[in-house]
Amino acid sequence: MHEPVLVEELLFWLNIKENGIYVDCTLGSGGHTKAIFEKAKKVKIYGIDRDLEAISRLKIKSKKLKVLRANFRNLSNIIEEKVNGVLFDIGISSEQIDSPERGFSYRFDGPLDLRMDQNRGVPCFELLEEFKRDDLEFILKNYGEERRSKKIAAEIIKNKPKTTGELVEIIRRITPYKGRSRVLARVFQALRIFVNDELECLREGLCEATKILEKGGRVCVISYHSLEDRIVKRYFKEEPALIVLTKKPVRPRESEVSRNPRSRSAKLRCAEKQ
Ligand SMILES: C[S@@+](CC[C@H](N)C(=O)[O-])C[C@H]1O[C@@H](n2cnc3c(N)ncnc32)[C@H](O)[C@@H]1O
Repeated sequence: MHEPVLVEELLFWLNIKENGIYVDCTLGSGGHTKAIFEKAKKVKIYGIDRDLEAISRLKIKSKKLKVLRANFRNLSNIIEEKVNGVLFDIGISSEQIDSPERGFSYRFDGPLDLRMDQNRGVPCFELLEEFKRDDLEFILKNYGEERRSKKIAAEIIKNKPKTTGELVEIIRRITPYKGRSRVLARVFQALRIFVNDELECLREGLCEATKILEKGGRVCVISYHSLEDRIVKRYFKEEPALIVLTKKPVRPRESEVSRNPRSRSAKLRCAEKQ
């Protein structure tokens, strides 16, 4: 079960109001949404996720929760009223990582799919059939910050893996044992970001969130790597309609990191609409 990250901190920064309207743009297993309901029973929440499996697994039953399967990059087309707060908990959930058939993890063998919304887009293994080496090198370098992107891209293009197991085997052959799991993590991250257009979704999602916030409403973003955090930091700083409330990102306490190691890299930033 996915354990929500920075829950107390998020409730504090979102500044939950008893009758407020909130949007959880990354509903997942509903951990943050549940915590908002526990804090204020009368709130209304729009819960959005692009992953049908996440939505069908959801356990929260409340008339105050409106669940929508959508991409948060289209927020202002989906939500037609002004809201008090918008939350993004970017990335993938434990359930997604732990489902071999989704292809998100190098720890399990399964199809190299990597799509968050399996009804849209093209699975990763099909994209790899079309790619030139330069395209893939760019993706590994820019979305995975992988130093050996040229060599890895060349091997992937030559072997065209269809499963996570085949991709892992290619990387195993060309990288030393020490540091290999970090290389794998960077390669999977890069491919996932590309397949789901994650950075562009985040940029557009932040603009959309700003549009639907009422004056004094807050947007909170929890991100897990520097590429995302940079986008959030810059957007908050440069958007004239927002004032930054967290001068430095809020990090999880040591007790949270030891309980939930997935929270280790989390950073929360918050801004308020003027
Ligand atoms: C880290 S999980 C969220 C976990 C959730 N906060 C919880 O406590 O259970 C991120 C979720 O966001 C969804 N997601 C990622 N990008 C999305 C997008 N552009 N639009 C809608 N949902 C997205 C993923 O499918 C995933 O379920």
